[in-house]
Amino acid sequence: MSKDPYIPLIESYCIKVEKNLGEKTIRILTDLSLIDRDLKVAKIDRYLLIPIKEEPSNEQLDIIKREIPAFDICIHSFQRYMKPVKSILEFLEDKLPPHLLACLPRSIDFIGDVAIIELPEELENYKTLIGEAIMSIFKRVKSVLVKSSPITGVYRIRSYEVVAGSENTETIHREYGCSYLLDPRKVYFSPRLSYEHYRVASQVVEGETVIDMFAGVGPFSILIAKLHRNVTIYAIDINPDAVGYLEKNIRMNRVEGKVIPILGDAREVIQGKLHGIADRVIMNLPEKAIEYIDAACYALKPSGGIIHYYEFTSGSYVLEEARSRVIESISKAGRIVDKILSSRIVREVAPYRWQVAIDIMVDGCIR
Ligand SMILES: C[S@@+](CC[C@H](N)C(=O)[O-])C[C@H]1O[C@@H](n2cnc3c(N)ncnc32)[C@H](O)[C@@H]1O
Repeated sequence: MSKDPYIPLIESYCIKVEKNLGEKTIRILTDLSLIDRDLKVAKIDRYLLIPIKEEPSNEQLDIIKREIPAFDICIHSFQRYMKPVKSILEFLEDKLPPHLLACLPRSIDFIGDVAIIELPEELENYKTLIGEAIMSIFKRVKSVLVKSSPITGVYRIRSYEVVAGSENTETIHREYGCSYLLDPRKVYFSPRLSYEHYRVASQVVEGETVIDMFAGVGPFSILIAKLHRNVTIYAIDINPDAVGYLEKNIRMNRVEGKVIPILGDAREVIQGKLHGIADRVIMNLPEKAIEYIDAACYALKPSGGIIHYYEFTSGSYVLEEARSRVIESISKAGRIVDKILSSRIVREVAPYRWQVAIDIMVDGCIR
């Protein structure tokens, strides 16, 4: 209950879970953009009541149910957080004309202490001012970057302009108890995939051999090694900077010997030395994963295994179409799909375009 009688209580939907599931539930609700950060999480006996912005959709409920064994949805009265800092809008209110205030970015990505924003052309002349505003509001930010190109090329990186703070954009990003050293100007990394890294890592079973075909700086591989005692993960990437950071991250997270970094093209590496050894293959290269399905099948043990497949898809039936495409490709590669374990939309990457994840159990029989 509110200690201050002048702070009104706000009624809101919430998810009620046992305290030991609280951290995990908060992560999932954050990833689903459901959590209401304006309201304070409440504690009653051995339960946490986590405020949410709206009743979850059926699809969101499915995702929560998959990870959280027991929870309730109920309504509770919550205390509202006092606003600690000004919003960017409030900060710039008297410095920008009103029509430009409406164009300010609505989201900021934080990779460690680097803030990344996208600015429309109209705000070009104000980018330094906006960068400085972000640094004043978020005291831990040491550089503000503005996206200046789409993600392109084999290494899947984009250009950025530093509009405020330090030109040194190497940083340490923390997620799910792991630390990743990286420079977003040299390697791919997205903080928006944090739950996906966790979702896949938590499915791995003790004793497995995993191949992370497009490993980047290691957010799947290192988390798997952290969460499981007896696993071997071959982490491949073609970008020498990514593998350089991966090697450092393996040491920093103390998973030497469990994660084996390999620089090279995933297909060539698998054909050369990883044939028929994997229980599980991760294919997080959504633009091109379909072209590497044959290599993933070749990497799986003859007895079968699981493929975590990603693609970018547009249209009305994204999951159905992605499922058909991958089933057909696996069949062309000479293996049979035993079953589709799950299909989910990971995130929207552009208007009407989504990243989807399909988990596939591949059969043992080779045709
Ligand atoms: C979308 S990023 C994913 C990185 C990482 N899995 C993550 O979640 O942050 C794809 C990565 O695949 C790498 N890549 C692209 N083509 C490759 C290939 N043929 N073989 C190995 N790695 C490749 C890129 O350098 C990039 O780091």
